[in-house]
Amino acid sequence: MSADDDEFRRSIRSDVPHSARVWNAWLGGKDHYPVDRELAEAVSAAYPQMADIARASRAFQIRAIRHLVSVGVRQFLDVGTGLPVANSTHEVAQSIAPESRVVYVDNDPIVLAHAEALLTGAPEGRTDYVDADLSATDVVVDEAAKTLDLSEPVAVLLLSTLGHLVPAEGIEVVQRYLARMPSGSHLVLCDTVKTPQTLAAQEAYASGDNPPYFVREPAEITGCAEGLELVEPGFVPIDRWRPEEEDAVPVDQWGLVARKP
Ligand SMILES: C[S@@+](CC[C@H](N)C(=O)[O-])C[C@H]1O[C@@H](n2cnc3c(N)ncnc32)[C@H](O)[C@@H]1O
Repeated sequence: MSADDDEFRRSIRSDVPHSARVWNAWLGGKDHYPVDRELAEAVSAAYPQMADIARASRAFQIRAIRHLVSVGVRQFLDVGTGLPVANSTHEVAQSIAPESRVVYVDNDPIVLAHAEALLTGAPEGRTDYVDADLSATDVVVDEAAKTLDLSEPVAVLLLSTLGHLVPAEGIEVVQRYLARMPSGSHLVLCDTVKTPQTLAAQEAYASGDNPPYFVREPAEITGCAEGLELVEPGFVPIDRWRPEEEDAVPVDQWGLVARKP
């Protein structure tokens, strides 16, 4: 990360788009400035599927959490949290298993400013927020360990977030997280795959002064799960990962859930 990136990430800027706010605009939320909406619209003009991807990513996140709770996972590390929306990780997990513990991680000051809305979990469970760069994996995991019991399985979630790192760095970062987690832990991951259309979206997104987002070759996503066991149906477009709505829209966003043996 350059010094400029670092400075950008430490301040709330209304003249420069922020990833969390642009994402919120695609999701139809209310937490964005004109500069965010302009970028969201520019990317959507280059790549009309973008808002579908944002909605599909949230829907995949909900289905994956419900599945993980059903197989006994009670701890979640949600890296690259974004702004609070309905069905946040703790709401989904604690609605089924109130004792679930959730730690959110983001480095955007706007997400930190909204973090209180994320910290209203069920009294039986625990919810916390870590303000850190996701690449600083030891800092994140050491902080998370104040809330999560690292002798018990943890699901590490990286939804539509890894693209903020260059592909090679992404694999290494994810593997560092998983190395700190015990057997039975899971990785939940989704990102945009490289096509001529998604490359056009990447280019449109990079037209502002905001940090870029890199779309991925499929192997650059599956490489993150090396050594893990893929949960059925494996690595697929996220609209096909245990779909619940028959009319789910097909998207160029692929994802996986994988278990650490
Ligand atoms: C596209 S949003 C996805 C939000 C959420 N995971 C979802 O799927 O709805 C990406 C999030 O990652 C955060 N982010 C980007 N780079 C980060 C970094 N280096 N460390 C921590 N968070 C980061 C952004 O602030 C933003 O909230």
